[in-house]
Amino acid sequence: PPDHAKGGDNGKQSQQSYPIDGDYTDTWTRAQVADIELTDQNTLPLYEEMPVEIMTDEVWVWDTWPLTDLSTKTVNVSGWKIAFSLTADRDLAFPQRHWTAEIGYFISRDGKDWQYMGDVFPEEVDPPGLREWAGSAVLVDGRVQFYYTASGADGAADGTPAYFEQKLAMASADINAGPDGVSFDGWSEHKVLAEADGELYQTLEQSLVGPIIYGFRDPFVFRNPDDGEVYMLFEGNSPGESVECLPENIGEGDSPPIDPEAKYYNGNIGLAASVGGSLSEFELLAPIMNANCVNQQLERPHATFRGGDVYLWTITHKFTFAPNLQGIGSDSLIGFVGPSLRSDYQPLNGSGLVLSNPPENNTQAYSWYVMPGGFVESFLDNVQGEYAGTLAPTVKLAIQGNARTKIATIFNQPFIK
Ligand code: FRU
Repeated sequence: PPDHAKGGDNGKQSQQSYPIDGDYTDTWTRAQVADIELTDQNTLPLYEEMPVEIMTDEVWVWDTWPLTDLSTKTVNVSGWKIAFSLTADRDLAFPQRHWTAEIGYFISRDGKDWQYMGDVFPEEVDPPGLREWAGSAVLVDGRVQFYYTASGADGAADGTPAYFEQKLAMASADINAGPDGVSFDGWSEHKVLAEADGELYQTLEQSLVGPIIYGFRDPFVFRNPDDGEVYMLFEGNSPGESVECLPENIGEGDSPPIDPEAKYYNGNIGLAASVGGSLSEFELLAPIMNANCVNQQLERPHATFRGGDVYLWTITHKFTFAPNLQGIGSDSLIGFVGPSLRSDYQPLNGSGLVLSNPPENNTQAYSWYVMPGGFVESFLDNVQGEYAGTLAPTVKLAIQGNARTKIATIFNQPFIK
């Protein structure tokens, strides 16, 4: 019989909601992670050869997000779907791509065949930072609100801490879509929306003590169906130089011994609230989830909404799990379900693991992003050791009411639903 002490669809979680501007932060626990098991319901197939054609031979493509409305649904503009991707020149070595990343875009009539359109931000509008990292793009009243990470302090030299600085930023533009394609004009200035404050979210400086640098990135903006207000999720870390490994971080059930370094693994899912309905002014709230003593990075957090429940999604790497958990975790999509944004979430499938790379190639794909309806896009990192840098075949998840998921279909194309 299942061990009812270990989380999962066992009623352990109270499924209680808390005030959205309060200080309740849920936890992803060591005991839940210890329950991770790779099965054919969650483990992606190992590709023997490239399963897709590359989308463009001009740029590497990795983290990708579709143009959505505030309800997180993909929108069609004059019959076009639009995907935004981090891109870097394909002449660069693939692992170097992060340091020159720029947001590019693709358009498609059917969501399957993609045409590369180049960079999103025009030369004449100057984004803060040295490079652009992941975010989201929302169409509101005919204008696209581009949320992204301004990465690297202006002028910072390679090798200095400031080279890794991250701020949440945005710009907006009008969209022109017609028979010939899609373009943007009427650009706003770029604006920094939030910086790590050291009180709710760890600063770059506080993180320098630990083995992995902080994250303050990947803004995802949406309207919360519960209260009708606009919020932003993002990847953060718990404040201070290190954290305490509390009982709520260890959880109930067996888990491996806590290594002294575990206190530096402090990933969280951050929340900010729009000020007065504004799309360009946000205030930081307490994180909604932390993985203190569990994992350093809960990347690209995003949400979908179904039947009054919030499905909270994030991605993580094997190497960012705390020591003694690294052998259990993998590069994976993690998910939770709860009754509201700030609540006592239940990890999907007991452990939180929803999709994992095959153990034979833990870096085959990454940056899974769940669209409403359970369609998941991601990018191929490498196939049999050859860098791919293009979107991976889309996966359809079956999401069951009892907090269980399984891989229902793997399409033969990168497919934005
Ligand atoms: C995930 C990620 C994001 C970040 C981007 C940088 O693949 O680490 O968190 O925005 O890549 O390239």
